[in-house]
Amino acid sequence: MTVKEPKSKDEETAEIMNLEPEEIDIKDLEGVGATIASKLKNAGYMDIISLATANALEVAELCEIGEPTAKKIITQAREAAKMNFLSGLEFEDKRKAVQRISTGSQAFDILLGGGVETQSITECYGEFGSGKSQLAFQLAVNVQLPKEKGGLEGHAIWIDTEGTFRPARIEQIAAIKGVDPKETLQNIRIGRAYSADHQILLVDKIPDLVNKDSKIKLVVVDSMMALFRAEYVGRGTLADRQQKVNVLLHKLQRLADRYNLAIYITNQVMARPDMMFGDPTAPVGGHIIGHVATYRIYLRKGKKGLRVARLVDSPSLPEGEATFQIDANGISDAEEEGKKK
Ligand SMILES: Nc1ncnc2c1ncn2[C@@H]1O[C@H](COP(=O)(O)OP(=O)(O)OP(=O)(O)O)[C@@H](O)[C@H]1O
Ligand SMILES: [Mg+2]
Repeated sequence: MTVKEPKSKDEETAEIMNLEPEEIDIKDLEGVGATIASKLKNAGYMDIISLATANALEVAELCEIGEPTAKKIITQAREAAKMNFLSGLEFEDKRKAVQRISTGSQAFDILLGGGVETQSITECYGEFGSGKSQLAFQLAVNVQLPKEKGGLEGHAIWIDTEGTFRPARIEQIAAIKGVDPKETLQNIRIGRAYSADHQILLVDKIPDLVNKDSKIKLVVVDSMMALFRAEYVGRGTLADRQQKVNVLLHKLQRLADRYNLAIYITNQVMARPDMMFGDPTAPVGGHIIGHVATYRIYLRKGKKGLRVARLVDSPSLPEGEATFQIDANGISDAEEEGKKK
């Protein structure tokens, strides 16, 4: 009797994505010797598919090779990966793999079409104290819950750029949810980023982590722009900064697609003195993030500790608002709202 080996995460993903499982190693591609292969792997291109979906400029820059060489390698990877267009029906199948993590508030979940989605980037922006990090804490616990409780029985990765990850808060929320606080904490991998480049490196490590732990379902980046904002001051370097952020966001989107991950990123707002009407705040990084993030949530403080989430941008949901509350127990429905139901 032959025992069938369990599928690796890559095989599973290849199936979901309708890609042929790769039999070819990166170093088998023409023009890729051992040196370039190891540069590619260090830059996070672990296999044919990640290379096939890469951007030539990005590969050239990260691996210090010419852009034409990068293009050539990517073209070969694409052929090797037999990437095809999907029919509408096949695409629908891929979408069926989408899962949702509850925010902790039913009203907020409904606003998002059921919760924070895998295969997507969800950006949350708002002023300090609006609850962006709190939502991240809640999601990092909720992702671990069983499906009937709004979770995915999954694990989380947390990239902390501001030093605001608080284990105690995770433990507190876990206890409320009736799960073991220490175990919950154990299931979150935290990477503290000290510079924008370090943040990029940590993102490049995600395929490694997911291949080692196939339960990873959520990636938090809190916050996305803080380090970029601090490092790229002055107008002269703004284009540079935006280009780097753009590359990073596309990387995150590819990871979301490839490994069926929910990506949750937070972002501060900056004052917009040029705006005379409406809310004079805009997310840092502006349109760059807006064009890549699938869901954008604007959070603001409401009356009596309540929070209002506005869905600003989504491919298929109407714009709208939901009110919820944040307290010692984490995120839950606003009490008055709860009574109405
Ligand atoms: N244990 C707790 N009990 C009650 N409320 C809490 C608790 N922890 C946090 N909060 C609420 O959450 C707020 C902080 O929210 P959060 O840290 O998510 O802000 P943020 O949007 O990430 O801000 P920043 O831009 O500064 O990172 C506090 O002001 C408080 O209202
Ligand atoms: Mg925060």
